[in-house]
Amino acid sequence: MSKISLSRYLIQAQHQGKIPSDLRFLIEVVARACKNIAYNVNKGALANLLGSAGSSNVQGETQQKLDVIANEVLLEANEWGGHLSAMASEEMEYIYEIPNYYPQGGYLLLFDPLDGSSNIDVNVSIGTIFSVLRKTSDNQKVLEQDFFQPGNKQVASGYALYGPQTIFVLTIGEGVYIFTLDRDLGSFILTREKVKIPHSTKEFAINMSNMRHWSEPVKRYVDECLAGETGIRGKNFNMRWVASMVADVHRILTRGGVFLYPWDKREPNKAGKLRLMYEANPMSFLIEQAGGLSINGKQRILDVEPQALHERVAVMLGSKEEVEILQKYHTENI
Ligand code: AHG
Ligand code: MN
Ligand code: MN
Repeated sequence: MSKISLSRYLIQAQHQGKIPSDLRFLIEVVARACKNIAYNVNKGALANLLGSAGSSNVQGETQQKLDVIANEVLLEANEWGGHLSAMASEEMEYIYEIPNYYPQGGYLLLFDPLDGSSNIDVNVSIGTIFSVLRKTSDNQKVLEQDFFQPGNKQVASGYALYGPQTIFVLTIGEGVYIFTLDRDLGSFILTREKVKIPHSTKEFAINMSNMRHWSEPVKRYVDECLAGETGIRGKNFNMRWVASMVADVHRILTRGGVFLYPWDKREPNKAGKLRLMYEANPMSFLIEQAGGLSINGKQRILDVEPQALHERVAVMLGSKEEVEILQKYHTENI
């Protein structure tokens, strides 16, 4: 069997009527931008690309040089092709409308240009997360409100992971497909298709240093995992925390597990740390497409109606059995 590139996968999907040509083009452009970001990530200190950019984003977080570069690469790659109306990013307070000297298209693109910023300078896996929505309103000018659609309206989502290999993980609502960058060919090659997350797991991912701040249901769940085979769960659990959501989610897609970034008492007015529209939604779409579940403790994340571009959300996602237990503990606690 000859190798299947991302382009071929997308063209086949177009021929089968699964995606229109402009969405195919959009995904190819995003993947091309990710190759450019991978190149910069690989250069690191050699091109003086590590360290802080000396600025902050709207979340009040210090921007790393690579956060800024990845954002610019995605904007420049996507603004001229005629497939988009506007973009939104973790690194920009407001939406970016396609300038009127370029053709306008029917899609909205959201991204976390570089996820796992705290891992950039220590050479640990980082990534890019993206989400695609349709522009459904007729207004000529794009408004921030046009982006306020629940995650169940996404037409595609995915991420690039810059790790030992650079990979591109994609869903167009037809399962989850994984492509690995072949640097000799310069293309992403299909290396895993129709990914399914095992329903049971013995592995959880949470930042344990926040334990004292957790809510009761989260404490109960993790305590029971820690109790091991003599406890109520009757099995020993292992723990992993990369601190790059993209890497933690990739591990879960690959071999199962559960990932939690719950609400906690450090900043009780914030729903959580992670952002709904360009972190939680695209990942939730992938996780559900792979047979897993993704919730905020009250509801399915994909059903949350966004109220703000940079809105935060509690996240619990992964293997079905574990997320069902978490949902039960949260429901019992209400
Ligand atoms: P970003 O680098 O895009 O701001 O996202 C970082 C997020 C996410 O990737 C990760 O799961 C989480 O922050 C790690 O947070 P802690 O440092 O609190 O563990
Ligand atoms: Mn992130
Ligand atoms: Mn980021």
